[in-house]
Amino acid sequence: MNYNDWVKMTLIHGGQLHQVAEQYKIPTADWLDLSTGIAPISYPIPNIPLTVWQQLPQQSSELIAVAKQYYQCQQLVVTNGSQAIIQALPTLYRQKNIESQDVYVPYRGYKEHAHAWKMAGYTLHFYQGNLPEITKLQPNSVLVVINPNNPTGQVFNHEVLSQYQAKLKQLNGLFILDEAFIDVIPNNPSFSSQVNDSHTLVLRSFGKFFGLAGIRIGFLVADNYWCQKFEALLGPWQVNGPAQIIAEHALRDTNWHIEQCNKLNSLRIHQEALLWQLFTKKLVKCIQGCDLFLTLSFHQHDSAKKIYHLLCQQGIYCRLSDEQETLRFGIGKEGSIKRLESACRQACKNLNELKNTGN
Ligand SMILES: Cc1ncc(COP(=O)(O)O)c(C=O)c1O
Repeated sequence: MNYNDWVKMTLIHGGQLHQVAEQYKIPTADWLDLSTGIAPISYPIPNIPLTVWQQLPQQSSELIAVAKQYYQCQQLVVTNGSQAIIQALPTLYRQKNIESQDVYVPYRGYKEHAHAWKMAGYTLHFYQGNLPEITKLQPNSVLVVINPNNPTGQVFNHEVLSQYQAKLKQLNGLFILDEAFIDVIPNNPSFSSQVNDSHTLVLRSFGKFFGLAGIRIGFLVADNYWCQKFEALLGPWQVNGPAQIIAEHALRDTNWHIEQCNKLNSLRIHQEALLWQLFTKKLVKCIQGCDLFLTLSFHQHDSAKKIYHLLCQQGIYCRLSDEQETLRFGIGKEGSIKRLESACRQACKNLNELKNTGN
């Protein structure tokens, strides 16, 4: 497939409910939206003083201190979501390393990375599943690892990541870890504390684990060089004041973190068991994911597309992968699981009918 075809099909994300609602002629309010990996339980919004709404945002030293503690790192930049970094990075990197040309990105994974590097004129090399062979990495190259990967849920361990980090440094390259969903992975496997020079960057997304993607805040863990570059590029009002206050409270609230992890884990276990029970091993090959999303792969190539459509007809919105081979379900709240269950039952029934009529 050429890049233009690839990009046309891939820069569609979950969370486009208005568009889908219009397509299926069901009012937006009547949908169960499981199309993203955003936690269904949100951090409660604290009281925000009127002055914070009135004034221009200022960089909050309290937020920086609490974020360093939460992410266990030396230095970071507060951003308007990690997407802001993904978009700006390729151009900045070209200025830093004019020899750089090659970027390794996951074939299945958040496609904004590949798109941003491609737009800046880099040559893309896709890897599937395993990381690219370490001995074949090019000098001055960039390696993007999404850990855990979205949508496969694949987690890469520290030992392996450290080898790639050392190799990229030796090659005068750049090692980028996107840890947007890592907050729910047990035993904190984050690489944030391993950032020690300008050859490694870690992206942290706030909105997913805290269930507040709409406030647009995220973090870049980096060394002094990159922090200065991004601060200069992003300017003084990158993150609004209310978002900073909310994030400061949320990142400090360790009891809530534990509670959130436990709740998401039990919702995920329940939903995963339910999806197996409803779709069965006859239809589903495997379910991968983490406590923020579950991705179903099917034995038959066209099942995902058909089930996606049958669920949309009932106002259930999940994410059909770009390759149209898998379905990703966000984790639903306790109250929404009954609806998911009956819609999936109906979808299976309709799918069988379609098969019997030869469609
Ligand atoms: C893997 C991954 N990284 C980064 C992002 C960007 O998220 P944000 O800008 O909210 O931090 C997303 C969004 O879905 C994502 O899936």
